Amino acid sequence: MRMGQRIGVIGGGQLARMMIPAATNLGFDISVLAEMEHSSAHLAASVVGDYRDLAVVREFAKTVDVITFDHEHVPAEILDQLREDGVVLRPGPHALAFAQDKISMRRRLADLGVPTPGWTAAQTLEDVTEFLSEYGGRAVAKTARGGYDGKGVRMITSANEVLDWLEALAPGEQVLLEEWVSFRRELAQQIARRPSGQMALWPVVETVQQDGVCIEVIAPAPLSAGRVADMAAHIAETIAEGLDVTGVLAVELFETTDERILVNELAMRPHNSGHWTIDASTTSQFEQHLRAVLDLPLGATDMTAEIAVMVNVLGGPVAGMTSRLARAMERHANAKIHVYGKEFRAGRKVGHVTVAGDDVNAVVAQARGAASNFQD
Ligand SMILES: Nc1ncnc2c1ncn2[C@@H]1O[C@H](COP(=O)(O)OP(=O)(O)OP(=O)(O)O)[C@@H](O)[C@H]1O
Ligand SMILES: [Mg+2]
Repeated sequence: MRMGQRIGVIGGGQLARMMIPAATNLGFDISVLAEMEHSSAHLAASVVGDYRDLAVVREFAKTVDVITFDHEHVPAEILDQLREDGVVLRPGPHALAFAQDKISMRRRLADLGVPTPGWTAAQTLEDVTEFLSEYGGRAVAKTARGGYDGKGVRMITSANEVLDWLEALAPGEQVLLEEWVSFRRELAQQIARRPSGQMALWPVVETVQQDGVCIEVIAPAPLSAGRVADMAAHIAETIAEGLDVTGVLAVELFETTDERILVNELAMRPHNSGHWTIDASTTSQFEQHLRAVLDLPLGATDMTAEIAVMVNVLGGPVAGMTSRLARAMERHANAKIHVYGKEFRAGRKVGHVTVAGDDVNAVVAQARGAASNFQD
């Protein structure tokens, strides 16, 4: 049977929201299973319900031809049940499992021969102490599941700092411990892959994180042409193929001070590091994700400018970003402003700004300047 073109997205965040215009432009139906009434993607929300409730997700699945995701938190049992029902899931549960659990991801990457920071899975204070002494007295501890925007990540120098996590572990669960990488900078490589195997990569970008949250992205990563770009591309292709990913995959990377490229983590969906593609690539990550999910030919990933810089708006004005739009537009006519329609909460990603141009310093300054209009 030929697959139709009704796309269902689980999760009503800004990623689902930004899939809507991409779907509309190509004439696809898109509907969203949103977790709350006033979600970022409410314009396409056909159901408001709990994605952890099998009955809710099953009903939603009946209304679409293919399901994809705004986040990786749908429980594996539900995904497996949907697959048994014959629902087309992209990416599939076998791939998503590695985006959901940082320990299984680290294990699988080791099998694939992909370079990662040194790591172990810890269950006891002794495990943590042993790892710390092996890695010079400091490490990064992470909860295996459920982390985002730096929540679930702790830089530690003593085992006691993760005692609460160890005590809260359910049987069989573990805490991930990683080598505290001294990195020169962080990079992200995005790739799209169709079920039929075709892949397309955007240029590797530099990402800047503050308190574990992405604040800025520079595309392409300065001085990355050649060795760095080749390694990042090779790693992303190895993972996309090895894990049979369908849709967009973002690979977060560390470029170390001794010039190694290590994988930090994976996201199997459009990603903050690719928002610039909406305004400065022939094909945006959102359009590409939908093409890949529907197994359609992928679009070109060339940049339409030499440089693009994206700056996130975190928190924003209490009255909402729209209260400052006129001022930002007046001062920065070349800035592409994206508002997610989310209510104010300190530190929350509520929008972003992208500026494209040909001089990296000028473009960075303009993008920061434009975003600062929304930052109190
Ligand atoms: N092993 C490490 N060594 C040094 N810094 C690290 C390490 N792991 C994580 N970090 C820092 O913490 C940030 C957040 O870590 P990570 O990406 O694992 O967490 P997350 O909460 O899942 O993030 P995301 O919002 O990307 O899902 C990284 O971008 C990096 O700046
Ligand atoms: Mg991350």
